[in-house]
Amino acid sequence: MKTLKNYSLTALMLFSSLGISLAQSSKSTIQIGNIEDAPTISKHIYGHFAEHLGRCIYEGFYVGDNSMIPNTEGVRNDIIDALKELQIPNLRWPGGCFADTYHWKDGIGPQENRPTIVNTWWGGVTEDNSFGTHNFLNLCKVLETEPYLSGNVGSGTVQELADWVQYTNFKGKSPMSDLRRENGRDEPWTVKYWGIGNEAWGCGGNMSPEYYADIYNKYVTFMSDADVEGGLYKIASGASNDDYNWTEVLMKNIPKNMLQGVALHHYSVIDWSAKGSDVDFTEDLYFKTMKESWLMEELIVNHTTIMDKYDKEKKVDLIVDEWGGWYEVAEGTNPGFLYQQNTMRDAMIAGMNLNIFNNHADRVKMANLAQTVNVLQAVILTDKEKMILTPTYHVMNMYKVHQDAKLIPLSFESPDYTYEGESLPAINASASIDDAGKMHVSIVNIDAHKKNTVTIDLNALGIKKITGEILMSDKLQDHNTFDNPNKIEPKEYKGFTFKKGVLEVELPPFSVIVLEGSK
Ligand code: AHR
Repeated sequence: MKTLKNYSLTALMLFSSLGISLAQSSKSTIQIGNIEDAPTISKHIYGHFAEHLGRCIYEGFYVGDNSMIPNTEGVRNDIIDALKELQIPNLRWPGGCFADTYHWKDGIGPQENRPTIVNTWWGGVTEDNSFGTHNFLNLCKVLETEPYLSGNVGSGTVQELADWVQYTNFKGKSPMSDLRRENGRDEPWTVKYWGIGNEAWGCGGNMSPEYYADIYNKYVTFMSDADVEGGLYKIASGASNDDYNWTEVLMKNIPKNMLQGVALHHYSVIDWSAKGSDVDFTEDLYFKTMKESWLMEELIVNHTTIMDKYDKEKKVDLIVDEWGGWYEVAEGTNPGFLYQQNTMRDAMIAGMNLNIFNNHADRVKMANLAQTVNVLQAVILTDKEKMILTPTYHVMNMYKVHQDAKLIPLSFESPDYTYEGESLPAINASASIDDAGKMHVSIVNIDAHKKNTVTIDLNALGIKKITGEILMSDKLQDHNTFDNPNKIEPKEYKGFTFKKGVLEVELPPFSVIVLEGSK
C-alpha cells in the first residue's frame, strides 16, 4: 500500500504529465487538443462481465423457461431489454475465478444428463450446469453483443479449450461441430474473444508469470484461428493492480503474433480485510474509495509504459477485464455471493473510470465492469420478479455515446477535492466526436461538498447547440431500491451557458454530466 505522500507525489507527476495540475481553483478551463491523430474509443471499453457467482446467473439473468417471470429461453426479458438499451458491446463469461473450475462439456446436452459441480470459489453452492454454452451464446445473439469466453487453464486441459473453440466456431464436419449439431445448433456462433485463464497469479492457479507465459503459448498454439475473420482475439490473464513484473514478463515471453490483449484487474477497494459498508459509509471511506478509483489512471499509464517498451506499434491491447467498487456484502446476504447495493459513490467510480479508459483509448481497447447483475458494482439488481437499474447503469447509459467515437483529447487544471489534509483532483472528463459530427463531453465532479465550474471553447469544433443530462442526488449514500426504483435517474441539465462558442458548465457536488454539442 502506498503512503499518502507517495501517492500525492505520483498523482502530481502523473497529472502534470497529462496537463492536469492539482492547483486549488473552483473554475477550470478545459483545452481541446489535436483531434487529427487521436484514437477511436473502442466500443468494447463499455463491456460487461457475468460470472457463475452468487445471484448473477441463477436468480439474476437466468430464471429458467418454466419461470412465471417473462423470459426468452430462460433469460429474463426485463434484463434483456435493459442491456439492449445499454448497447453492451461484449459480455465476459463464465468467470472470473469460476472459469478455471468450469468444464464446458458439463453444460451442454440434455439437462437431465448434466453433472453437478461445487462452486468452490463462491459460497460452496451446487452448480447444476443448467446455464451453459448454448444458453450464453444464444443470449449474446439476442443482445447483439460479442461473447468473451474465459477458458479454463487452471484445472482444464489444452484439448478441452481447443475443443471449445471447435464446438463454438467450426462450420464443417468435425467431432465437436457434430456434437453441437446433436445438441440442436447447426450454425457456429463464431466466438472471437477468448481469455486464456483468469487471474493465473491467484485463483487461476497461483502461477509465476514465467510459468503462465509458457502455458499461455502452449494453449493458444492449439486454438484454431481458421473460422473467425481476422483470427481469434486472445487475451492473456493479466496483472493485479501494480504487479508490473507480470506485464513485463508476458510482453517479453509471449510472441506478439500469439497475443492480442493483456488483461489488468483493479478494484476500487479500500482494504481487503475491511472493505466498508455498501450504503452506510462516511466521507472518510468515500474519499478512500475515490483515491483507489483514481489509481486506475496511474496503473494504466505504468502498464502502458511497459507495453510500449516491447510493442511500440501498439499491436497488443490493454484489456481491463475486471474493474469496479467492492465493499462488504449487503447486510444479511451470503458473504460468498458478493451482493452489494449501488450508490452515488458507484456513479462516481463508473464516470471516472470510463473517462480514464476513454482518455487512454490508444491502448485500452476493452474493459469489463464487474459484474452485470446482483454482484459487486452491478448495473442491475433483482429481487424475485422485481428488477431495478442502479446509478452505475445510468452512467453507462449516458456514456454510451462515446462508443466507437473519435476521442477529443482534453487538458485542464482540476481543482482539488480536499479531505482532512489529503487532496485528489475533483474533476475528470473525456470527450469524443461521433460519425454524425456530434460532440459529447462527460464530466464528473467527485467533490463531496463543493460545486465546480468548467469552461470549454468549442469554436474549433463549430458547435452551435448544446444539450445536457445530469446524474445527481442529495446524499452520496443515496441509491435506488425495489420500493423506490427511480430515486436516482438522469435528468435534463440546463446548468450551463453557451455564448460565442464558449461553454461554461456548473458541476454540482458528486455529479456526472454528459453534454451533447451539435452543429
Ligand atoms: O469479480 C469477482 C472476482 O474477482 C473474480 O471472480 C476474480 O477474477 C476476481 O478476483
